[in-house]
Amino acid sequence: MGMFDNFLQHDETIFKEQLVLDYEYLPHILKFRENQQQYIANILKPLFSSKMSSNILITGSPGIGKTACCRHILREMENFSDKIYGIYINCWKQDSAYKVLVDICHQLGYKWTLNKKTNELIDEIAKIVNKKAAVIILDEVDKLKEEQIIYQLLEDLFRKSLILITNNQEFLATLDQRTRSRLIPEIIEFIPYSYKETYDILYERKKYAFHENVFPDDLFEQIAQKSFYEKDIRIGLFLLKETGNATELRSSKKVSLEDTEKAISKISIFQQTRITLDEEEKEILNFIKDKPGSSTTEIYRLYNEKFNKTDRTFRRKISTLKEFDLIDVKEEKISGAQTPHFFPKNSNS
Ligand SMILES: Nc1ncnc2c1ncn2[C@@H]1O[C@H](COP(=O)(O)OP(=O)(O)O)[C@@H](O)[C@H]1O
Ligand SMILES: [Mg+2]
Repeated sequence: MGMFDNFLQHDETIFKEQLVLDYEYLPHILKFRENQQQYIANILKPLFSSKMSSNILITGSPGIGKTACCRHILREMENFSDKIYGIYINCWKQDSAYKVLVDICHQLGYKWTLNKKTNELIDEIAKIVNKKAAVIILDEVDKLKEEQIIYQLLEDLFRKSLILITNNQEFLATLDQRTRSRLIPEIIEFIPYSYKETYDILYERKKYAFHENVFPDDLFEQIAQKSFYEKDIRIGLFLLKETGNATELRSSKKVSLEDTEKAISKISIFQQTRITLDEEEKEILNFIKDKPGSSTTEIYRLYNEKFNKTDRTFRRKISTLKEFDLIDVKEEKISGAQTPHFFPKNSNS
């Protein structure tokens, strides 16, 4: 082997297809979620014969295939039949009733949304959907600012299944009683992948992402372990990409230990950005940091003064902060009544 054989030429790359490391990339086969997919498919089955179906609530921590699983089902459904409309909405991006409805319209092929009000939009959607059936996925549903839209979809669409996805275990409890009693979802909890599963999923992505003989197996193993430890496939994908970038930066054709270590050292920064709070959640956290030990009433008063939102929205924000482990809630007895008081956690973050 010559002295320069291990160097990349300027137009060479170690990546065969970098796209497969994107978080949005949807593999053709989704291994290890067959049971969940079959379970969901069974719930949706009545829609194919013009019957009613149940709604579904999917919970579980980030990066364990909730979104991928549901998008996969939509894809299969579309290939199988044109009797059902498949709609996917990311409520982090479409966080108001209006935005959700416009997105649904566009996915249904209805273009005349301009200057229409929300109730006009929902009428148009109902006209289209009620001739057939629909599966509507509301992903990251806890980020929705107006939960009324859930109620409206439940009311106005006949043959449909709403699939709500959230990281927040307590989401259902934050919904209005009226919505909850219409929804009555089948609840599916996703659990993180085992080490073997994590390894296999990432190995498959690595195989398509990199040229052969670029990534030594022992270094790949470190990444699989890290991803398993963090219980998040996204961490593994991030590490594969970052490692490859580090290798290319050295103009090398082969991944080295220093490349994987460099990538792993970036994780803490990466993880901080995983916590995605909206403006209101950030502000509530600030209130709590300013006045540790404040009661629900006090914090709600500050929140309401600034944002003029309902108590339920407030409770949802609080449960997000709890879910991310950013606050502590302690029940304290004050003048006979037990009320929750809030404390910030790791206050330097
Ligand atoms: N079983 C699986 N097979 C292949 N890739 C998977 C699997 N589960 C998750 N992934 C990948 O991991 C990443 C995170 O999954 P995602 O469904 O977005 O997680 P969640 O919605 O639970 O946060 C995505 O890129 C997805 O393609
Ligand atoms: Mg997701």
